Amino acid sequence: MTMTETTRDLTPDRLDLPADFAWGVATAAYQIEGAVAEGGRGPSIWDTFVREPGRIFHGETADVTVDHYHRWADDLDLMAELGIPAYRLSLSWARLQPTGRGALNPEGVAFYRALLEGCHARGIQPYVTLYHWDLPQALQDEGGWPARETAYRFGEYAALVADALGDLAEHWITINEPVCASFLSYSWGMQAPGHTDDTEATRAAHHLLLAHGLALAAFRERRPAVKLGITNLISNLNPASDSEADAAATRIADIRFNRIFLEPVYHGSYGEDVARVFGMHGITVDETDDGLVRRGDLAVISAPTDFAGVNHYTNTLIAADPESPTGTRMTQVEPTPTTFDWSDTPDALRDVLLRVSREFTPLPLYVTENGATFADYPTHDGRVHDPERVHYLAGYTRACADAVAAGADVRGYFAWSFLDNFEWSWGYSMRFGLVYVDYPSLARIPKDSAYWYRDFIAAQTAEA
Ligand code: NOJ
Repeated sequence: MTMTETTRDLTPDRLDLPADFAWGVATAAYQIEGAVAEGGRGPSIWDTFVREPGRIFHGETADVTVDHYHRWADDLDLMAELGIPAYRLSLSWARLQPTGRGALNPEGVAFYRALLEGCHARGIQPYVTLYHWDLPQALQDEGGWPARETAYRFGEYAALVADALGDLAEHWITINEPVCASFLSYSWGMQAPGHTDDTEATRAAHHLLLAHGLALAAFRERRPAVKLGITNLISNLNPASDSEADAAATRIADIRFNRIFLEPVYHGSYGEDVARVFGMHGITVDETDDGLVRRGDLAVISAPTDFAGVNHYTNTLIAADPESPTGTRMTQVEPTPTTFDWSDTPDALRDVLLRVSREFTPLPLYVTENGATFADYPTHDGRVHDPERVHYLAGYTRACADAVAAGADVRGYFAWSFLDNFEWSWGYSMRFGLVYVDYPSLARIPKDSAYWYRDFIAAQTAEA
């Protein structure tokens, strides 16, 4: 840890940011709702995946998780008590459209209308994500994201959601982290549906982008006043050494993780380097009448959005490694105090924001997720002391102001996550929440970081 980091200023001082900067917290439906067989919800690929032996740490499921489906009103009350003005949440596709086709499920619509109205009633601005990885299982049975039809299904789902719920939020995010919904899900096997096929993954990547474009068009037609964007995980990738081999490995990782999703949306094409990566899987990205990329796809994908969502967590070192199946080895830049061994290096967030705004888009940027895991537990005083998370948040919130000072148009920051929750294949072993959840009783205990964030937000919004 450098001197600057050991002496990081944790006082919740006012940062030099626009007065209407959105300070929020984020969650995702599958990670918090539970109630997977209630309210007419259909099964999603995650319900299937968690039941497959060996997929999830300790074989845990999200059948209950933190039971937000039943406790949402109390959760929103707590959010309001903590003075949090913005909340990014996601809709469960399988709750709203149980088989991914046909009319919306009225109970699902009623649930989300109550939730979104509940946000407004408490003065909380909702930012809504249409897809945070919980594909209806019925659509996976028909091919999932590697099948082009899934993108059309998503376009139809988005149109129905725009009609049913589009009046209840000003900001909408089409897809969360397409890199995870494609590569981690269809190639690395780490996420549902757990396939290990590079060709499927690259097909999924294109179809997720197409789905974004179709959802955008559906919302534009029905809700011209709302603001729309896509959220990408933007990794900060650094070569592990000065060697040409590590530099080359880093360029390839950047294409696979970042550029493959950013170039089509913000530049309107898959650049030559990205085309080469698709080519390695025998896929051409020229627009044709019958290939993966059809004539007109890129116009749909690159239709103007209103903001860009950036999720950022860690700061990665890439080394060439001929022994590894991917040809690269990834480690994280020190310090890595988190239980995930991820970095606490806030300049990486500043750099990512600057890179997106200089290289890809001048649009307003929102940090739609950022956070860290620690071994949190309640102590004898009934409190959860998480000074490391306060340290992390103080650094990364300041990084937003540093990015703005250097020219990026950053408009909001959402801490991941409001509550401890189901961290995908890591189950409940990784705690990201500002609010601790005691899983056996489901009691909520705000951690010290939640109180720090409350005071921090109050300092940002106080009259000068
Ligand atoms: C990004 C994902 O959007 C979210 O669902 C996940 O929990 C966090 N990363 C932390 O891994």
